[in-house]
Amino acid sequence: MENNIVKKSPESIYELIQKNNYGALIKLLDRLGKLSADFDNKPLLKLLEHDNEKIRGLAVKNLAKLVDNSLVNVFVKIVEKDDSSSVRREAISAIGRLRNSVVNKQILFKYLSDSDPEIVLQAMRGLLVFKKNKDVQDRLKKLGNHPNEIIQDIIKKEFHNNFSNGFDPTHILSPDFMKNIVVHGDVRKVLKSVPNESIHLTFTSPPYYNAKDYSIYLSYKEYLDFLEEVFKEVYRITKEGRFFILNSSPIIIPRVGRQYSSKRYPIPYDIHPLLIKMGWEFIDDIVWEKPEASAKNRNAGFLQHRKPLGYKPNPCTECVMVYRKKTDKLIDWNIKQYPKEIIEESKINGDFVSSNVWKIDPTFDKIHSAVFPLELCNRIIKFYSFKGDLVFDPFAGSGTFGKSAMDLNRFFFLTEKGGKYVDRIKENISQNNLFHDNSFIPRFLNIEKFREVLK
Ligand SMILES: C[S@@+](CC[C@H](N)C(=O)[O-])C[C@H]1O[C@@H](n2cnc3c(N)ncnc32)[C@H](O)[C@@H]1O
Repeated sequence: MENNIVKKSPESIYELIQKNNYGALIKLLDRLGKLSADFDNKPLLKLLEHDNEKIRGLAVKNLAKLVDNSLVNVFVKIVEKDDSSSVRREAISAIGRLRNSVVNKQILFKYLSDSDPEIVLQAMRGLLVFKKNKDVQDRLKKLGNHPNEIIQDIIKKEFHNNFSNGFDPTHILSPDFMKNIVVHGDVRKVLKSVPNESIHLTFTSPPYYNAKDYSIYLSYKEYLDFLEEVFKEVYRITKEGRFFILNSSPIIIPRVGRQYSSKRYPIPYDIHPLLIKMGWEFIDDIVWEKPEASAKNRNAGFLQHRKPLGYKPNPCTECVMVYRKKTDKLIDWNIKQYPKEIIEESKINGDFVSSNVWKIDPTFDKIHSAVFPLELCNRIIKFYSFKGDLVFDPFAGSGTFGKSAMDLNRFFFLTEKGGKYVDRIKENISQNNLFHDNSFIPRFLNIEKFREVLK
């Protein structure tokens, strides 16, 4: 049924109700568009009793478009009686749209103490329109201690935000002594000398708990404590609102004998709560998918016996988790700190991967057993940094991330503990002789030398 037919003759909605065609009704209500004030609201009012909550919600949404003060009691009745949170939310939103500030405010005040945080949020939205009124400020400020974190954040941002949203000329800058530097040493010691808020992006793949020879820890707890210590420091040295991207995956420690089980450690899932606790905000989960043939085959047994419980899928994905340093500012603020030319030059033109599943073949290296594919690093650098930024990999391995940074006109800062891997970084990076700025030719320092540069 055409939308304009319904607009001219709203009672044609009854036809769809009679035909019991939920799908068509939802589609129609969703696309009804603007409604003039003289639209006959009776069919929509009838739908407020519909048994489908989506249809009830859309009916309220369309009634709200009429901005008809006489409907206020209809909306209040829905908030009081409807058992669906989303329908009640639509009704609160509809009340917020009405043009009767005295009545609106009193009704919305009441729902600030609703037990459903979604209703409180919607009432807050309606009241923020009157943010300058003292009575509204007083009522909203009381929600600063609300148990819901989104409500708390909004109150903080609206009433206790001392940050300036203005221009910060230091945001795009980074210390020269860290540009294109590889430090050979334990990242925990190196970072002690690195100033606060000096880097724009970190991408790393940490050592795999006791699964490769460079990563031996006494216990899983000791391993997680180690990563927590490093990532807290990464947080400190990251600029406001910038990104930290962590590549990891569950690992398996093989069984010691036939009478034992192998043990699987869900590394990304165990690191995640630690990152949130230290202040990183979760932004996205990207899945790096490799061809199945490159994964270790775990289902040979199942192929034979086909018994339930013995199924073991081949792990051909890794997690690429995206976090942002906590800030009250929007990502747009970060972008606006850059001059127009840099923004223009950093744009990702042409085709780009639009889903969170990134199909990339793994890379094998003659020296290092777990290297990033260059393509993975290139995507991270392009999507999450600007030209001229300083990007960091605390567990640099063969230095793939540094190579990608150089290729894409960013500066890198790398730390790596293993001497043979630092040699591999030298080899990798010296293949690229097109340094975009000769004053920042890559340098390889031990911790003592790095500290000297700082003085
Ligand atoms: C998974 S690998 C990273 C590989 C890297 N993404 C690449 O493309 O080659 C982890 C690296 O962390 C290094 N590492 C482990 N503990 C470290 C520490 N405390 N400080 C610095 N590097 C460390 C290991 O030597 C290993 O090379």
